Amino acid sequence: MKVGIVGSGQVAESLGAGFLQHGHEVAMGSRTPAKLAGWIKQHAGARSGSFTDAAKFGDVVVLAVKGSAAAEALRTAGTQNLAGKVVIDATNPITDEPPANGVLKFFTTLDDSSMERLQREFAGARFVKAFNSVGADCIVDPQFKGGKPTMFICGNDEAAKQTVRGILDQFGWETEDMGKAEAARAIEPLCILWCIPGFLRDEWSHAFKLLR
Ligand SMILES: NC(=O)c1ccc[n+]([C@@H]2O[C@H](COP(=O)([O-])OP(=O)(O)OC[C@H]3O[C@@H](n4cnc5c(N)ncnc54)[C@H](OP(=O)(O)O)[C@@H]3O)[C@@H](O)[C@H]2O)c1
Repeated sequence: MKVGIVGSGQVAESLGAGFLQHGHEVAMGSRTPAKLAGWIKQHAGARSGSFTDAAKFGDVVVLAVKGSAAAEALRTAGTQNLAGKVVIDATNPITDEPPANGVLKFFTTLDDSSMERLQREFAGARFVKAFNSVGADCIVDPQFKGGKPTMFICGNDEAAKQTVRGILDQFGWETEDMGKAEAARAIEPLCILWCIPGFLRDEWSHAFKLLR
């Protein structure tokens, strides 16, 4: 697949490396593409450009920017460059306020989510929430003593979720499809839970698993 990654942070870099390693073509996007020069040098075959370049390149687009900049980044990427495409939303709607006793603050409520807002604004894109509930270090080929971890996903388009399930299979995850876009109201806050041991005890190596 041709994968366009809108973002240049830790998640963009980890996922970019993962897609390359698993045989996909990758274009990374930033407002300042030059900042990706070092990463590009270390990752043969990858290219970098603007958010627009990345979105145009991808058959699948990954959104991996600061949560509060998600809509703006996609506007810059270009609505027309997202139309009909699977957009994997790895973002979390975290505010700039400090965590309270390790608990991050969100700018959304439990009756709304960032991905629903994005799906409403970019109606032609096929959003799937994924990769938001684990640290960038463990996002590809996660290795845990407890076995294969679970990635919770959701989105309105069944075929788009199948595509993401295929990627998660490749990347070493179990997939739990939690349904339509509204499930992002539950999946996005998993990020808050995931970060608490980090902020309280500097423990950042864990992932969720659904047991039956
Ligand atoms: N860090 C993790 O372990 C982790 C794990 C799972 C999910 N997430 C979520 O994934 C997303 C990316 O996280 P991250 O830690 O990799 O990076 P980040 O530091 O949260 O975000 C960096 C990216 O956001 C873009 N950005 C920042 N302000 C912007 C603005 N005003 N307008 C447009 N773009 C802007 C930057 O663009 P430029 O390239 O132009 O600088 C850069 O690509 C976040 O939503 C985060 O909550 C993070």
